Amino acid sequence: MFHRKTLYWLLFLTVFVHCKPNTENKEVVKEQKEVISQEEALAIGQDIAVASQQVLGKNLKQAIEKKGVLGAITFCNTAAIRLTDSMATAYKHSIKRLSDKPRNQMNQASRAEEKLIAAYSKDLAEGKSISPSAFKKENGGYRFYQPIVSNKLCLNCHGVVGQQVNEKTFAQIKALYPNDKATGYAANQIRGLWAIDIEN
Ligand code: HEC
Repeated sequence: MFHRKTLYWLLFLTVFVHCKPNTENKEVVKEQKEVISQEEALAIGQDIAVASQQVLGKNLKQAIEKKGVLGAITFCNTAAIRLTDSMATAYKHSIKRLSDKPRNQMNQASRAEEKLIAAYSKDLAEGKSISPSAFKKENGGYRFYQPIVSNKLCLNCHGVVGQQVNEKTFAQIKALYPNDKATGYAANQIRGLWAIDIEN
């Protein structure tokens, strides 16, 4: 059996010998090379989502330790989008958190994204493994999504009001977000999506 590398070399040589590119299709070859594959988009997206989640998670934990849940709401209110924006600048990709039941209306998922969340939720509830998605965009590049799963810590602010979310916390949330939809969650549910645009 051929070693995979040998096979690639042979393929390369065959292509190279048979179609010596003229300057015109050299451009085409170059263009094709720059287009990233779905696998690459998934790998890039995952790296960014994991890093962003870590930054946000670390800051949230610190805020709760320092100021308690009530004080940490202000942190989420003022710092969450700022932090994802700064990650976006660092990675040169657009990074957002979206939800079908958003707290901040700026994080509202589209109809198609709501369907994706519903599909992820169904799989998670049925105990199936869930993995990120990357969809080709019409004008090139990919839109990457990674599900955001709730844990116990999240329930302080996203759990059931009167149970994990106490009245004081809820009052503060309502004061900042009169249209809040992001309570009533249990642990291990889909709270939303990381949405990352990956350009070619
Ligand atoms: C201290 C309270 C608090 C805790 C704890 C908390 N959140 Fe939030 N969460 C908020 C606030 C406030 C917002 C709105 C942020 C904004 O205005 O951008 C928010 C927004 C979000 C959003 C963006 C979508 C939306 O609803 O606007 C996601 C996703 C999210 N939280 C997931 C989580 C997850 C997952 C955890 C647990 C790891 C968690 N949150 C823990 C307060 C909290």
